[in-house]
This record gives sequence, structure tokens and C-alpha cells, in this order.
Amino acid sequence: MKVRINQLLANKPVGETVTINGWVRTRRDTGAFSFVEVNDGSCLANLQIIADAALANYEHEIRLLATGSSIQVTGLLRESPGKGQDVELQASSLALLGPADPESYPLQKKRHSLEFLRELTHLRPRTNALGAVARVRSRLSFAVHRFFQERGFVQIHTPIITTSDCEGAGEMFQVITGRETSVGDHFFGRPAGLTVSGQLQAEAFALALGNVYTFGPTFRAENSNTSRHLAEFWMIEPEMAFCDLAGNRQLAEEMLRYLVNEALTSCSDDLLLFDQFIEKGLLKRLQGVVAQEFVQISYSEAVERLQKSGRQFTYPVSWGLDLQSEHERYLCEEVFACPLTVTDYPASLKPFYMRLNDDGKTVAAMDLLVPGIGEIVGGSQREERYDLLAGRMSAAGIDLDDYSWYLDLRRYGSAPHSGFGLGFERLVQFVTGMGNIREVIAFPRAPGYAPC
Ligand code: 4AD
Ligand code: MG
Repeated sequence: MKVRINQLLANKPVGETVTINGWVRTRRDTGAFSFVEVNDGSCLANLQIIADAALANYEHEIRLLATGSSIQVTGLLRESPGKGQDVELQASSLALLGPADPESYPLQKKRHSLEFLRELTHLRPRTNALGAVARVRSRLSFAVHRFFQERGFVQIHTPIITTSDCEGAGEMFQVITGRETSVGDHFFGRPAGLTVSGQLQAEAFALALGNVYTFGPTFRAENSNTSRHLAEFWMIEPEMAFCDLAGNRQLAEEMLRYLVNEALTSCSDDLLLFDQFIEKGLLKRLQGVVAQEFVQISYSEAVERLQKSGRQFTYPVSWGLDLQSEHERYLCEEVFACPLTVTDYPASLKPFYMRLNDDGKTVAAMDLLVPGIGEIVGGSQREERYDLLAGRMSAAGIDLDDYSWYLDLRRYGSAPHSGFGLGFERLVQFVTGMGNIREVIAFPRAPGYAPC
């Protein structure tokens, strides 16, 4: 019977004959037999194989097995007399499927730095840390869908190619065919790009179906080479009709807790590894997030706190200037020491679609900040009043004809509505403690960096 190692270690069917496949992590020989540690990616733990000298291919294959080789082993599962494992597999056959030349295979027994592994995006999932990240990421992705489906949200597949620049920040990658011969010769009849956010299209569906979400890749051609930015990242964007900023914030907080709790309960072995080797105290921090009340303050209060802090910041703090990462981190790491939602930013700092507050100066925006990362969620109540929206769009230099479909949503059956975007990689960073966002996506893309 072919089994995965995680099932084997969970069920421990001692006395049964099983077949496993995997990659050799280490081999150690004694006089009469070899210990081979095998990992198949189903879990962090390896399975110990005992291969004794009586096996036909012992001398010319097994005794030469190198790290990274793939093998198939059939044998009897038995209790292990040795330390470090409850069970081991006594091989009745061990076949070498794919050798790995120890002279050139770059992943050897020693620990490699995450920076070194970044140059090997195609091989790094075979390491403990990057394999664990992949499993946690997959589990969180599944839980995102479960969270929304349990609450009656409808998933919308919003487009990847779009002619609308949601954030209006000019960070869209352009989509061209390479066959354009003159200006104005566009495949789609007008300039198009890769989406920076599915929000605008999600709004159209929220104003038909009530509660919707989209979870897909988004692209930003911004020149930021930081540990928290990617040119291609995944975003989770719920959008809710008949919902104000308070309801929006409640959903964001509930979702963050739900996802952190999911990781704690279904990825405990992998998180233990991160707690040991990546961020000491990770588990305690995550348990705190699940148990804690989050704090909420307005942008104006945040500015006041920063000004009164007596701290020397690199970037200036004054009402009307954007909060920089150092400010966000100071507030949620040192002042409040917990996740923190900052609301009601100056209208001038935020995109055209955010709802203008009654003070005429601020908008119903929210950024959820978390220790270690800073902004993990950005969202708002949307401007549902036609005249105000059209006014802000014109002021932002947007051609109203290009966005007439979006304005239609305010012309016909407009309703208060709200939504947010959670950066999926920032969430995976938060949960794994990884300091650099390039570790939490399989094949990172950043300025000057797209190795395969
Ligand atoms: O704050 P942002 O730009 O908001 C939007 O795009 C809204 N349209 C979302 C909405 O309301 N539906 O991005 C949302 C989140 C950020 O808080 C951050 O977590 C993540 O997306 N993010 C990035 N993650 C990785 N690399 C980048 N370059 C990112 N830019 C934003
Ligand atoms: Mg933002």
C-alpha cells in the first residue's frame, strides 16, 4: 500500500507492509546496515528507513545514496528502538528513482541561509523551512475560502487584465501584444493593464449579490525593493453592500483572528519550526492575536500620539502627511503592542473611491496594522453618492467616460457599501515570522528579480 509519511506517522500502522516515496535527506552507515532519512513533503518530519546489507542493491546503490536523491521504499513498519522517532521502516526493497550528484546538488545537509535559497526558488521547497511555508500558505488559502463560504459570501473571479486603474496610482503594468504598429492600436481598443486590485469589479457584484469576495493575483509596477513589497502578490478582497466602516473593520478583525487560529490549529508542527528557527516567541504572539481585542484610533489621534511621543523619526509627522512604516510600527509595536486599526485618513492621501466624511476633510478609510509588518489590510467605506464621487474623480484627473460603468453603480440603486484588501503574502509573513516577503511566495517577482 502506497502511503504518505504524514499519514504513516499519524496512524503508525506497526506490523503492516507499506510503500513510501520521497527524497533522501541524510544517510548514515553502520557495519551491517544504513539509516536513511526520507522526506516526502507531506509533513516536516522525516521517516527513518533501515536498509540492511542483505538487500541486493546495497553495496552499489544504497551505500552511495546521496542527499536529494528520490527513492521508493517498501517495507515493514515497526517500533523504533532508537531515539528521535517512534516508528521506522525496515526496507524489504529500496529503489533509487532519481539520483542527485553530490558534487553539484546545491542543497547539502547543513543549514542554508534564506538569502542563498532565494537564488534557488525551484529547489528551496525541498528544505524544511520553505516546505513548511508552502504547507502553511496552502492551508491559509483554503481557510480564506472556508471563512467566506461559511458566511454566505459569493466568490467572484475578477479580471486580471483590466482597463481600470483602481488605486489611481499609475502603478499598472501595461498589456501589449508586441504587434502594435501605431499609437492607439490597442488589442482591447484602449490601453489595458494587469489589475492592481479587483475592488472596482467586486463592487459591481456586491451591488447585485450583497456580500462577495475575490482572491487572486494583483500586480504593482512600483519600484519598491522592500521586505514587504512584491510586483506580483495575492490579495483577498471582500466587498459588502449595506455595510459601513464599522462593519468592515469588524469583518477584517474577525478574519485575521480566524486565519491565525487556523494556522495554530492545523499547522502546529510547521509553526513550531518557525518558533524555533525564524522568530522566537512566534506561537505566543499568534496566540495573543487570537485572544486580544484589537485597538482602533483615528488618523488624527495617531498623528497626535506620534507628535507627543518624543521620538525622532526619519520621516516627518504632521496632519496631512502619510504614515510611514516606522510610524505604523511604532504605534502598534510600542504604544499598543497589538493589532491596530487606524481610520479616517485625510482625503488627499487616499484613492478617489473612499467615502468623504462629514468633516469634508477625511475619508472613511481603515488600515489594519500588525506588529512586525505594519499595514496588512487596507480598506474603506465606498463613496456611494454620485455627485461626490464624480467630483473626486474629476479632481483626480480621471476621465469620467472611461469609468462610466463604475458611475452607473451610483446612478442605479446605489447603496452604502464597504470592503477591504488583505495582502495574502503579508498574512503568511505574519503567521510564519518570515522577515522577507520573498520567502512566502513560491516564485517572487520584484524590480530586477524574476528568476524563473
Ligand atoms: O492598500 P491597498 O493598496 O488597497 C487596495 O488595493 C484596495 N483596492 C483594497 C480594497 O479595498 N479592496 O492594498 C491592500 C493590501 C495592503 O494592505 C497590503 O497588505 C497588500 O494589499 N499590498 C501588498 N502586498 C505585497 N506587495 C505589494 N506591493 C503590496 N501592495 C499592497
Ligand atoms: Mg494601503
